Amino acid sequence: MEFKKIEQFVLKEYSIDLSAYKSKQLLRRVESFMTRAGAKDEDEFILKLKTDSALSKKFLDHLTINVSEFFRNKDLFLELEGKIKEQLHPEKRTLKIWSAACSNGAEPYTLAIILDKLTPNKKHNILATDIDTTILEVAKRGIYKQSDVKNVDNELLNKYFQHKDDNYIIKDFIKERVTFKKHDLILDRYENDFDLIVCRNVVIYFTQEIKNQIYKKFFNAMKPGALLFVGATESIYNYKEFGFEKASTFIYRKPGGV
Ligand SMILES: C[S@@+](CC[C@H](N)C(=O)[O-])C[C@H]1O[C@@H](n2cnc3c(N)ncnc32)[C@H](O)[C@@H]1O
Repeated sequence: MEFKKIEQFVLKEYSIDLSAYKSKQLLRRVESFMTRAGAKDEDEFILKLKTDSALSKKFLDHLTINVSEFFRNKDLFLELEGKIKEQLHPEKRTLKIWSAACSNGAEPYTLAIILDKLTPNKKHNILATDIDTTILEVAKRGIYKQSDVKNVDNELLNKYFQHKDDNYIIKDFIKERVTFKKHDLILDRYENDFDLIVCRNVVIYFTQEIKNQIYKKFFNAMKPGALLFVGATESIYNYKEFGFEKASTFIYRKPGGV
């Protein structure tokens, strides 16, 4: 399959650089979508994408795989809560937090809930970014299904969500604590001075080289003593190379005091 043409189209149309993604996995995803769209080759597929905006949007969703949920790997979030409390002292300071590749918002809102548990009514700064502007609109609406909130304890569900019909709507006082922005982890500049960066279930799609670049940039974007929380299959075996210390299997720390 002549993947180059599709790569060029995707870069031009959606500003996504597919050459940074693991090629075999991606090729399989593109091929399966193309077959389902009924296109016999790349040229026909690109023509279909150009003329059918609904298909184009579906293809973008398919490429970006924006699956998420509240308290994804709950035990790890509980562990993170402990580390935030012990090491970042949220009661004494206003924390700057980044949920990178935040998808539908379940992750940054989970962080806002954890912070509200630790320091009720205190406003920390939570930045939430994703490459996909469509999913960011979903995130800003903050309306979820039962399957998205299945890991949320009843007490938290009652406190932080409004239950209406089949939906769970995140309450405004939590919503207001998260700022959503479009950001590409590969191409865009990173902000600085974060106390906590949460980046989960996205780097698995990237080549090792791109992953290394991202971890270096995360390190530079963190304050001394800050934490990096990664996905449950994404422990960083070469963490020392970037200057991190291990705080737990999925949490890394930039040396120094906060
Ligand atoms: C599987 S979701 C992970 C969501 C959340 N972090 C979690 O763990 O539940 C992956 C997200 O990464 C986003 N993404 C893919 N490539 C990206 C890039 N280069 N920069 C920023 N976000 C990206 C996708 O749009 C998608 O929303």
